[in-house]
Amino acid sequence: MEIKNEEVTFEEVGVANRPIISKTDLKGIITYVNTPFCKLAGYTKEELIGKPHNIIRHPDMPKEVFKQLWETIEKNQQWRGFIKNLRKDGKYYWVETFIEPIFDENNKKIGYISVRKPVSEEDKQKYSKIYEEMRKEEQ
Ligand SMILES: Cc1cc2nc3c(=O)[nH]c(=O)nc-3n(C[C@H](O)[C@H](O)[C@H](O)COP(=O)(O)O)c2cc1C
Repeated sequence: MEIKNEEVTFEEVGVANRPIISKTDLKGIITYVNTPFCKLAGYTKEELIGKPHNIIRHPDMPKEVFKQLWETIEKNQQWRGFIKNLRKDGKYYWVETFIEPIFDENNKKIGYISVRKPVSEEDKQKYSKIYEEMRKEEQ
């Protein structure tokens, strides 16, 4: 799939003011997505359930961000951060993401839930630069 330097916004896909939700198992395999998630990512539910969450990883994202993400949630803490994601059509979208563990009735950790909201233009600029620098360091 060809990566396109073209952004898609929440408004453009009709999900303004909607939370973008996904759940995974303990390894990051997608177990649930809501309809706004699908619209923003450009996939159907069927295409996403059972796939690793890195199906929407964008090549502009530094590895270090996801390393910190996993370190945080594996310690049962909430992670918050800014992510540039890759749509099925090769375009991108920015989301501010909150991830935390899900526990069953016996207090056993069974997976993770994430909720996302839009990112301001200012933060998109800011994190594009930060991530570009981080990626240079990772080369
Ligand atoms: C609940 C949950 C939500 C996630 N959401 C995203 C996401 O929106 N975009 C993304 O690139 N990775 C997301 N990840 C992280 C991926 O599992 C993965 O670590 C990341 O895409 C980097 O891929 P890699 O680990 O194969 O290098 C999420 C993980 C969890 C547990």
